[in-house]
Amino acid sequence: MRPRRGAFASKQEVTFSSRVPADLGSNRLAHAVHRKRAKGEPLVDLTESNPTRAGFEYRSDLLAPLAHPRGLVYEPSPFGLLEARRAIAGDYQRRGTTIDPERIALSASTSDAYSLLFKLLADAGDEVLVPRPSYPLFDHLTRLDEVTAIPYDLEYHDGWTIDQSSLERAVTPRTRVLLIVSPNNPTGSFVKAEELDRLQAICAARDVVLIADEVFSDYELQPGARASAGRVLDSRDALVFSLGGLSKSAGLPQVKLGWMAIGGPDALVDRAVERLELVCDTYLSVATPVQAAAAELIGHTAAVRSQIQTRIAANYRSLVEQTATVPACRALHAEGGWYGVLQVPSLGSEEDLVVALVERAGVLAHPGYFFDFARESFLVVSLLPPERVFADGVSRVLRHVESRIAGHA
Ligand SMILES: Cc1ncc(COP(=O)(O)O)c(C=O)c1O
Repeated sequence: MRPRRGAFASKQEVTFSSRVPADLGSNRLAHAVHRKRAKGEPLVDLTESNPTRAGFEYRSDLLAPLAHPRGLVYEPSPFGLLEARRAIAGDYQRRGTTIDPERIALSASTSDAYSLLFKLLADAGDEVLVPRPSYPLFDHLTRLDEVTAIPYDLEYHDGWTIDQSSLERAVTPRTRVLLIVSPNNPTGSFVKAEELDRLQAICAARDVVLIADEVFSDYELQPGARASAGRVLDSRDALVFSLGGLSKSAGLPQVKLGWMAIGGPDALVDRAVERLELVCDTYLSVATPVQAAAAELIGHTAAVRSQIQTRIAANYRSLVEQTATVPACRALHAEGGWYGVLQVPSLGSEEDLVVALVERAGVLAHPGYFFDFARESFLVVSLLPPERVFADGVSRVLRHVESRIAGHA
């Protein structure tokens, strides 16, 4: 019998989860970029942070290990192939940290690692403390796992530090995780050894777990900056996770290999490992060919990493030197990572400024609000573009700001 039409007529409607924002509309800046490109007009892109599009030289056979016959055999294991985890432990050793490979779990990316860890550590509605300003994706990463991001502030006095009192105010009985990014995106600040000691003391006393996103830890903008940073995995009292991956350490975001290393008191680590194994076993998200190739890929990471290091250091110098010639602007002090921050006079909103930069100066930069800066006006630029492109882009920004100042005078 055919169903009666009326009873089953499609309403062409569906209820989506509230984890995904209801309004997906693009913003004024995206429209301005689209119009510029549609007209075929050139645009200097100071937001380009995809290393595979920034003119670095990758060996053409770099990904040959992905074709290794070991990838033909499926041997599911929650934390991934031990050989890959040993290679990652070796990579930590290169940076001076000793870690047992049994305490390392592979993930498909840092985003994947966050999702697995939120499932391990928090229930829906629990709170995760996130730095402000920081990585814009934290909004989505927390929301998609139904945890609530609560910001704590970083403050700037010729260098960035964690505002300890804002952090303490942010802790509640529902706080499960304290997230740090070292060096942070976009402020470029490492979490110093003394800061880390204080954070670990708060975590241990309040039953909070520390997650340290260290994806940019290879990249210094000030010589010796990394040595002043705290060593997360040496934690004695708090359970800690250090996140890393090939996306930044090798400039290979498309290969999709990240990792989590677990540290802290043995009893806590053992309980975390057992439970994380169950979570990872449920998803098994890392492709076998990538796991089989990991040791070889990690062995070849230095070549691209050193090109990136040279580029970001040169671009940061150019940003500082060019900005020094414009008294109304300043380049904020950065210690590491792939970004530079420019403070500019607030002659209008940041949004008006970045739209005008696209339309009139032919240059694209991120507005500070994108990273949740506490106030205006800041611009964030990627340090990855080729040197000449970068210098031209910064010059366009500064000339535009100068002409706006002249217009206001
Ligand atoms: C702080 C931070 N963590 C993680 C990532 C992304 O890492 P993955 O590609 O491994 O997800 C980024 C990318 O820009 C980042 O800025």
